[in-house]
Parts: sequence; structure tokens; C-alpha cells
Amino acid sequence: MANPQPKSSPRLWTWAVIILGAAVFYRQYVHEMVTLILGTNRVIQPIKTSHGTVVAFLDSRMQWLPSADHLNFSGKPEKDHIVVLDIDEPGADGLYGWEQAAILAHQSPPPRGLCYRREILDPVALGANSTVEVFDLAAKSNTLSHVKIIASDASNTPNNLAVDADGNGFFVTNDHTDKVAGLVRELRGLIGSGSLAYCQTDTGECRIATDEKCYLPNGLVRGHDGRYYVVHSMTAVISVHEYVDDELTRVDEIPLGVPVDNLSVDHDGNIIAAAVPDVLRFVRVVNNPYDNQAPAAVLSIQRKDSGYEVVK
Ligand SMILES: *[C@@H]1O[C@H](CO)[C@@H](O)[C@H](O)[C@H]1NC(C)=O
Ligand SMILES: *[C@@H]1O[C@H](CO)[C@@H](O)[C@H](O)[C@H]1NC(C)=O
Ligand SMILES: *[C@@H]1O[C@H](CO)[C@@H](O)[C@H](O)[C@H]1NC(C)=O
Repeated sequence: MANPQPKSSPRLWTWAVIILGAAVFYRQYVHEMVTLILGTNRVIQPIKTSHGTVVAFLDSRMQWLPSADHLNFSGKPEKDHIVVLDIDEPGADGLYGWEQAAILAHQSPPPRGLCYRREILDPVALGANSTVEVFDLAAKSNTLSHVKIIASDASNTPNNLAVDADGNGFFVTNDHTDKVAGLVRELRGLIGSGSLAYCQTDTGECRIATDEKCYLPNGLVRGHDGRYYVVHSMTAVISVHEYVDDELTRVDEIPLGVPVDNLSVDHDGNIIAAAVPDVLRFVRVVNNPYDNQAPAAVLSIQRKDSGYEVVK
């Protein structure tokens, strides 16, 4: 007896279309990102290593690092503090006058924030209740006076900030769109996640300035040219923005080809980028800095008349 023709059910067709869609999506978007993140084409060059190994990572960060989903509140650091350095005076010991800042709380009762105890909300269920704390630091002093806490839905996953020319406004990168850790947050990371918020210190108000083409916005600096440079860690691109008359415009993009964590500006106005050539090993270090090491690279980005020049 001949076998009956297999009848393709609508269910099967639906699955076929979904799988085809996923394959196209993978080729179009994810493959490039995976190659970039995993660095499959990247050659890592060894450099001369020094004798001592410095594990410059706090133990407590293994427990509490919201941007990397480390949300064990009971392991959260109790001894976090702010250090004041005089970066123009290395001093005989080369420690730049390293000193723990004293913190003055003007309000009574003291505000509940970074440096104070606050009631504990479940960070796993609700996400970390991240805030921006504003302090005054008198020149040549080691005392920070607490001014205010900025807590806003528009800066829900703050990662880094850069202060505007007026000293009042500042931009904040939100590294994710979703505050709560989990699959949705991770998957959204692949198609675009995070935003750039603009806050004002005097009013304490924040608003989303842009969430277009944001892919894990991480390091953020204001260049000597007044432009804002934001590195998107998922795509390894720096987006360049101008902020004029309350309007943020994306004026350029600098592809880096290697994922970058943080940015800073040097004396000459070059943008310095701390790059992560091997993300998988980097993640292992974040999870356990004592037993793992990961390669790193430093890029310098210089603005020229013709555009930006990236040098490793
Ligand atoms: C959370 O932190 C506490 C205190 O450091 C520690 O005892 C506990 O093992 C940690 N839990 C996990 C799941 O790592
Ligand atoms: C987060 O912290 C701020 C500042 O302490 C507080 O005003 C706010 O109510 C907290 N958010 C939630 C959801 O509890
Ligand atoms: C990122 O770099 C800035 C300097 O541009 C520095 O102030 C900040 O502490 C760095 N953040 C991290 C998480 O390394």
C-alpha cells in the first residue's frame, strides 16, 4: 500500500516561515554582531607584560554590578567611597594625594542614596533602583557636600555621564531599555537597547534625549570640541552628537571594529577608548576577576578635517 502524501499542516508552514525569518534576521543583523563581539577575525597581539598582576576589580563587584546583571544585594559593597586626587601633583609617592573624601549631608534626615542606607527593594524583581547623586566639591578640599538625588524613569539604567558646558545639564547613557534583568533585556540588546537621557541638576528632571540606534550605550564623554561621544558596546560604534538649543543631533559615526567599554578625553582632546578584544574572556573576568584574565586594547580617536582617525 502506497504511503499517503504527507500533508503539510499550516502549523508546519508557520514554523518554516518563522525559521526562515530567523535565518534572514540572523544573516542580516546578528551574524555581524556575533562576529564582532566574539572577535572571530581578530588577532590578539601579546604585549610585554609587567611582573605584577593587578586585579583592579573590587570583590564586591562580583555581587553587585547592575549593568552586568549581578544583583546580589546582600553582597553589595558596604565600604564604597569616593576618592579625591590632585591630578596635577603626583607627589613623592606617586599617589596624587589619594584621599578618601568626607561626605557632608546637608539635609536632615540624611538623604537615602549611594552613600547612605536606604530601604531595600528587590533588585531581581524590580531592577536596581539606580540614582545620580549630586555633590559639591570646593576646590582643593576633600569634602563633598551632598546636594541632591536624581531619580528618574528617564535614567533607569545609568552607566556613565558627561556634564554640559553650563555645568548644570548632563547627559546619561542608559545601557539598557529594560530595568529588570532577564531574557527580554538580553534579546533586546541584539536589536537595539538603551538610550541617552538629558538631566538638569537644578530641577532634578531628566528626559530621554534619544534612543535611536542605541546598542548598549556605555562610555560617554564631552570632547574639547563640545561634541558628545557615545560608545555603543554592542556595535562597536561611537556616535557623535551636537547639542544646540536643547536639540541633540547625531552628526557622525565612528566604527571601531572592536567592542569598547569606556571613553575618556586626553589633554590634547583625543578620545581614548578602553577596548575589549575578547568579550567572552572579559565576561569571565567580570564574573570572577581572581581566576581569569582578558586581553585589553586602547584606541585613540583624533578629529581631523576629513573625519576621525582611529589608532590602536
Ligand atoms: C551574595 O552575597 C552574600 C554576601 O557576600 C554571599 O554570602 C552569598 O553567597 C552571595 N550569593 C550568591 C548567590 O552569590
Ligand atoms: C528609588 O530611589 C529614590 C531615591 O532614594 C526614591 O525616591 C524612589 O522612590 C525609589 N524608587 C522606588 C521604585 O522605590
Ligand atoms: C569611565 O571613564 C570616565 C572618564 O571619562 C571615568 O570618570 C569613569 O569613572 C569611568 N567609568 C568606569 C565605570 O570605568
